[in-house]
Amino acid sequence: MRIRRSLIDLDDLAAEELDQIFERTAQFERSPPGRLLAGTGCVNMFFEESTRTFASFNIAELRLGADVVNLAPHKLSLATKGETVEDTAITLNALGISIIVIRHPEPGFPQRFALAFDGHVVNAGDGVHAHPTQALLDIYTLREEFGELRERTIAIVGDVLHSRVAHSTIRGLQRLGASVVLVGPEGFLPGGYAGNGITIQRDFDAVLPHVDAIVLLRIQRERFVEMPLSDADYVGAYRLDQRRLGLVRKDAIVMHPGPYNRGMELDDSVLEFAGWRYARQVHHGVGVRMAVLDFLVNAPSGP
Ligand code: NCD
Repeated sequence: MRIRRSLIDLDDLAAEELDQIFERTAQFERSPPGRLLAGTGCVNMFFEESTRTFASFNIAELRLGADVVNLAPHKLSLATKGETVEDTAITLNALGISIIVIRHPEPGFPQRFALAFDGHVVNAGDGVHAHPTQALLDIYTLREEFGELRERTIAIVGDVLHSRVAHSTIRGLQRLGASVVLVGPEGFLPGGYAGNGITIQRDFDAVLPHVDAIVLLRIQRERFVEMPLSDADYVGAYRLDQRRLGLVRKDAIVMHPGPYNRGMELDDSVLEFAGWRYARQVHHGVGVRMAVLDFLVNAPSGP
């Protein structure tokens, strides 16, 4: 049986396919796309909390006319009755489901599912590994602002180590030729990230005047036991606040994948900043996810 296209990380998409998805996003945002997924069975399985990603996948699927089923993880036989991933996939195949959107704490879980499932799997975040649709909407937001990203410098700040969003977004930005500066303390940003167009800076203030965009990250406390530094030390060195906003370029933008924690990685002044693009990112989540679903199901597959 032919394995259908899935989206596990950005590497699954060729450069021209990225462009294709962005073009479709713009088109879908301009005018409602119609029922391109009419009659297509679509299951959302979120084993971790989600607000933005879950809601926007749902809206995207419904707007495209898909038949949508939301399976709550604690109600799945996979979680409580010992059913395996493979047997769950057999069951969903037999139900004629074509698309499964999965969020799971285990890195690689969506990939495992994709190997057993005949339809398309979309990774909505797997542990610290990847979150490709968030990366796509982040990059879409950056391109809306700046067009070409080749001459642009993007700072990604904070808990890079535990952020699947950062891992996917970094890959995407590298592919588009942007310069990426990672900013954070050693415990959240080991030296090994440097190289291939990526630099590491420990001094946030020194970076601020030189970047076009700042992507702030939440400290992913659910993914580690002990903070590598105190909250107060983190705030002192890495919180974006009024004073630090005074150092950024006038036309710079600030982004965050959400959820953001006021007081930790940012303070309220960031939410008043003219370049704060969080709502834009969330908005693009629906268009990007419609484009991804349509691409996986309807685009002609390669040889
Ligand atoms: C992120 C996630 O879940 O990976 N949020 C999101 O999907 N928009 C980031 C986070 O949880 O901090």
